[in-house]
Amino acid sequence: MDYLEINGGIPLRGEVSISGSKNAVLPILAAALLTDEECVIHRIPNLSDVKFMGKILESLGAEVQFYGESIHVRAKDIRPVGDYDIIRKMRGSICIMGPLIGRLHEARVSLPGGCVIGARPINLHLRGFEALGGEISLKEGYIIVKVPRLKGTNVFMGGRKGSTVLGTANIMMAAVLAEGDTVIEYAACEPEVKDLADFLIKMGADIHGAGSPTIYIKGVSKLHGAEHTVIPDRIEAATYAIAAAATQGEVTLANVIPEHLQSVLYELRQANVECLTGTNTIRVKRNPGPLRPVSIATQPYPGFPTDVQAQFMTLMTQVNGISIITERIFESRFMHVPELERMGAKIELEGINAIVEGGRQLQGAHVMSSDLRASAALVIAGLIAENRTIISRIYHLDRGYEKLEQKLRILGADIGRWNSDPDSPNYRAIPSSLVISEE
Ligand code: EPZ
Repeated sequence: MDYLEINGGIPLRGEVSISGSKNAVLPILAAALLTDEECVIHRIPNLSDVKFMGKILESLGAEVQFYGESIHVRAKDIRPVGDYDIIRKMRGSICIMGPLIGRLHEARVSLPGGCVIGARPINLHLRGFEALGGEISLKEGYIIVKVPRLKGTNVFMGGRKGSTVLGTANIMMAAVLAEGDTVIEYAACEPEVKDLADFLIKMGADIHGAGSPTIYIKGVSKLHGAEHTVIPDRIEAATYAIAAAATQGEVTLANVIPEHLQSVLYELRQANVECLTGTNTIRVKRNPGPLRPVSIATQPYPGFPTDVQAQFMTLMTQVNGISIITERIFESRFMHVPELERMGAKIELEGINAIVEGGRQLQGAHVMSSDLRASAALVIAGLIAENRTIISRIYHLDRGYEKLEQKLRILGADIGRWNSDPDSPNYRAIPSSLVISEE
């Protein structure tokens, strides 16, 4: 099993190029199902989730070719049923439903189970499909949506936790080929939703207002192939910005869109971190003097992103004082807390709040990844901890961070990827003092 070994205490210095956005690429690849012509998408990050989405499109009948950081997709003849075994393994695959409904008026997708960060319901997606004329049934754990007549509608997509990113994406992709007009109210405003709309518009869709809470769609009869370069990954960028601040380094993030990180930059500045923004760069370094405690609550965009909550918590463990981290989006997104405590952090959980008593030096340990962003928090902790940190189950990281150890090594980190299997060419035994049971 692959693991990361980090020797902490080195300030990160230099420049890191931010990859294309995972959360933009996944729905955009799904949108390529809406036409029988070829689509070409650039700045594709080399991530396991993206490779998975390629396999899902192939299981639906599409031709998929990766060429370096580009992908060519041609969904000439497709079917409404995917390879359930693949689909059920990646929650993001739910976003194939919208294009299948838009093009074939039918979709059969395994009901995505919950995951470690929460139940991950899809009631809002189904609300939108029903509003567009969908008949929904559940059979042996699979959601089946049939739409005899796909007709434009007005649909309110707000739920208990606010808007839904992939739900908005799904309804937008189902509505672009519907008869008549659709208005999506309480739409998600994330940049990834706007990027999807930009791609759909290049395909010939008639969409206005994406990126705002109300999206207006006029159904068209057909969409054509298009070429698109996805936006940079704002969550990856935020992760490196926090790593730079936590290690007391100085890092320039290149190929970013600073406005996509406004809420993160604001809170970092509140914590006494300098963030200088250029057109497509952000330079991050500590100001003189100590970090300040900052309390945050995660919100839908443009609020503080839930996908940066874990990383920011690691930073707050280094601050003299108390900060409160409130997770309002997902019901169990504190899986990184027990692992950070094993490294010496002092964090008390009270419902949706994590109370961080900072100012303690973290100690290296053997810790376990549980989900994508919790893993990133542990990497940052390893970069600032004394001695050696081992991070297991890093397949979670590979879902969302392209070339992580290479990028960190370029910034001066002492980090390596090894494998605990003696038969692996990359074998390196985990020091017996650090071995923990993996069950
Ligand atoms: C997207 O997930 C992202 N994933 C997530 O990033 C991100 O954390 C999330 O948006 C919130 O920003 C991708 O884009 C692939 P939601 P999504 O529907 O769309 C509730 C990462 O680390 N909800 O916006 O699935 C839901 O339970 C991943 O990159 C309903 O109640 O999230 C949650 O509490 C993790 N009913 C809240 O809304 C629904 O029908 C937001 O979920 C749908 C969602």
